[in-house]
This record gives sequence, structure tokens and C-alpha cells, in this order.
Amino acid sequence: MRRPLVMGNWKLNGSKAMVTELLNGLNAELKGVEGVDVAVAPPVMYLAQAEQLLADSAIKLGAQNVDTHNSGAFTGDISAEMLKDFGATHIIIGHSERREYHQESDEFVAQKFAFLKENGLTPVLCIGESEAQNEAGETLAVCARQLDAVIQSQGVEALNGAIIAYEPIWAIGTGKAATAEQAQEIHAAIRKHIASYSEDVASKVVIQYGGSVKAGNAAELFAMPDIDGALVGGAALDAAGFAAIAKAA
Ligand code: G3H
Repeated sequence: MRRPLVMGNWKLNGSKAMVTELLNGLNAELKGVEGVDVAVAPPVMYLAQAEQLLADSAIKLGAQNVDTHNSGAFTGDISAEMLKDFGATHIIIGHSERREYHQESDEFVAQKFAFLKENGLTPVLCIGESEAQNEAGETLAVCARQLDAVIQSQGVEALNGAIIAYEPIWAIGTGKAATAEQAQEIHAAIRKHIASYSEDVASKVVIQYGGSVKAGNAAELFAMPDIDGALVGGAALDAAGFAAIAKAA
């Protein structure tokens, strides 16, 4: 049985006041909620503050990116050791915004995946197609290519314990979420693709959906057999709304 993960990706949003208010709100709203893992990924500037606020909480701490080195002359980068030092466990890699605005290739994302695993951190590997790719019928091919960069370099067992987040780019921040049926169809196809390497790994790997998930559409999405929680952007910035999504899982 897969345990769903609802994770908030705060992207480039936050302030000291907002972090305190949001995490205190989530701690109160989610106290005693069972059957779902919940994580938040604030900007790294706020990890120390978030670590303190989550000290007695079941909410896990995450981050939105990592470099592929643990130290050295890599100006501006953040290492896996540093993330661990602040209690972060779930690290988002390959988000479409990093692939697009920072030219991150499938191979580079796969290197980050391996680096996180080597350092005992949980990769949250984002995959997903653009609107044009979707309209051209290339959705599965794009997702398979992004996954294969990891599977063919590290073996399918590398996915054990990792999280996959399927995020169709056309649904991110647009208010135009995939329908539960659309998302289920591609989640099942992604799982089938992984099963072509290992049925055991495919049956166990958590596949989240991301893209305009809100309190209003979460339950319908989570009712689908291959949708194991969500990676939430905009709606993760409101404690009551994000807690409602987590409770729906
Ligand atoms: O990582 C989160 C996704 O990009 C979804 O963002 O919920 O604002 O559409 P969104």
C-alpha cells in the first residue's frame, strides 16, 4: 500500500512573518491527521526558521533544489549536506521552472537524483509535458524520456523510496488542472512504463499529481488509484487550503 505525500512547493514566496504564520497554521490544522505524509519546501533562506517551527511536528521539511556537489567553488549553489544540516529530507528536482529558466537537462536532473540518493535524501522528481507536447500526443514519450534519464543511468531500483511528481506544465499556476480522469490515465501509463523495468518498483513508487491542485479538486484526484498525493504550488501558501488538500489524501 502506497502512502500518499502532499507537499507544498512555496516557490519564490515567503518572508519571516509569512513562514511563522503559515507553519504555525499548518501545525494547528494538521495535528493528529493520519494516513498521509505532509511536507513543505520553503525557499532555502527560511529553512532554519522552518526547522525550528516544525521541531515538534509531523510535517516534513523539504527544499526546491540542490546542487550536485557537497562543497567547493560553486558560487550560489546549495549542497545536500547543507539541506540535511537543516533537517530537510524531501528535495524537489527537475521542476519544469528550473528546466525552463535554468536550462536543466534530463541528464543534469538525473545527476541531482543520484546525488540526493547518495546523501540519504528523498528526491521528488518532477516530470511533465508542455501544452504543445500534450497537443502533439507526446505526453507519455516526454515523461518516459525524463524518467529514463534516471532509470538507465542508475537502474530502476533507484526509484525505490523516491517520489515522482507528474506535473503537466499547462496545468501549473493556470487554474486549469488536469481532470482526475486525464491525470489517472497518464499516471497509470507512467506506472506501466516503470513496470516495463520492474513491476515491484512500479507498484511501490509514489506518483504525485501537480498543477492547480486546490481544496476543491483534491478529493477527486486522490480517489484515482494511481494518484498518490500532490505537489501543490499556489494553494500551499494558505494554511487552511493546504491542510484541506492534505486531509483529502
Ligand atoms: O510544484 C508545484 C507545481 O508547479 C504546481 O503549482 O499548484 O500553483 O499550479 P500550482
